[in-house]
Amino acid sequence: MLSGKNVLLAITGSIAAYKSAYLVRDFIKRGANVKVIITEAALQFVTPVTLSTLSKNPVYKDFLKSTDTGEWNNHVELASWSDIMVIAPATANTLSNLVSGKGDSLFLATYLSCNAPIFVAPAMDLDMFKNESTQNNIKILKNRKLNIIEPKSGELASGLDGKGRMEEPEQITTIINQYFLDKASLRNLRILISAGPTYESIDPVRFIGNHSSGKMGFALAREAEKRGANVELITGPVSLETPRNVQRTDVSSANEMKKEIEDRFINTDVLIMSAAVSDFQPVKMAPNKIKKDELEMSVSLKKTPDILKDLAKIKKKQIVIGFALETESEKKNAYEKMKKKNLDAIVLNSLNDKGSGFGFDTNKITLITPLEERKFDLKSKDLVAVDILNFIEECI
Ligand code: C5P
Repeated sequence: MLSGKNVLLAITGSIAAYKSAYLVRDFIKRGANVKVIITEAALQFVTPVTLSTLSKNPVYKDFLKSTDTGEWNNHVELASWSDIMVIAPATANTLSNLVSGKGDSLFLATYLSCNAPIFVAPAMDLDMFKNESTQNNIKILKNRKLNIIEPKSGELASGLDGKGRMEEPEQITTIINQYFLDKASLRNLRILISAGPTYESIDPVRFIGNHSSGKMGFALAREAEKRGANVELITGPVSLETPRNVQRTDVSSANEMKKEIEDRFINTDVLIMSAAVSDFQPVKMAPNKIKKDELEMSVSLKKTPDILKDLAKIKKKQIVIGFALETESEKKNAYEKMKKKNLDAIVLNSLNDKGSGFGFDTNKITLITPLEERKFDLKSKDLVAVDILNFIEECI
């Protein structure tokens, strides 16, 4: 579950900081990407060279990178990069700072900016741990939904014996792995998603296409992967980065897309056709570039195969979801399409809604099933993907 995840590890000033090197190594072994933030106090215990070598990333300490150039480490970027933040070891002083909301270091400002799940592994001497203020701070942090990885009892650096030893690195990564496993609500589900436009060649140079950016389909793939699904993405020509852990196949035409989807459909649990498949293709592609000598030219077109309709006809247990991008009589058209194509649901969006449709990072959808209609507000395509995947979770 940690493969491809972005782990932001904050190391604060406890002798247990030496164990953080093992923690970095363990995250890396499990396929995670690791960036380390270190506090001034932690530098007394472990060196940035060790941590940057193991994490394969620079270690972050101060806001300012260079006084000469004014380059600085952006706490907001670090926070939004992370899928998870781990504070290990967390000293008593750190716990107190987390509670107070102080933001006077790169570490604390990043913590305050972080919306990802946060794990805290305290490490300190037994009496510091037992102290009422430490215990109160832990209680407050738990109430704020931080995940506290309880320290272990045993021999402490002071020579005393008691509770305060930071949990072992391997155990920390196991706990975090389990956390993601528990969240993987679509574990073992095979989801096939189509995205982007298709290009139908007129000649070796020209094509018929559309303005689809593929953003909606890619957002769906990212969200499904986050929930632990096995995701296959069949995409027309787009310039988007492949979501991590997603099997991507690039195609150009409707015919190519049909073949790739057909090949996989039988082994799929859910098909989401968010691609804007061209409805027409030239009857014949000219073998050479058509000369522009004529004042007028015409291209004979025929319908492309309706991938969704053909597959929904033979579906067994698969959930099949289509998209309808409409410009008029939106609902009526969407209902007709859902019926005609034998779909379990159709996602309607209208070009008449501001911020909706091709190219935008936002979308406004109505999710229609034979039983109900759910209207959603305009939101980012990432959040639209959350709504659609929530619906799929309910279906399964
Ligand atoms: O009929 P219309 O093109 O509006 O239907 C849209 C839905 O049908 C989308 O989910 C799209 O991916 C799918 N489609 C298809 N094959 C086509 C045309 C559209 O699968 N040739």
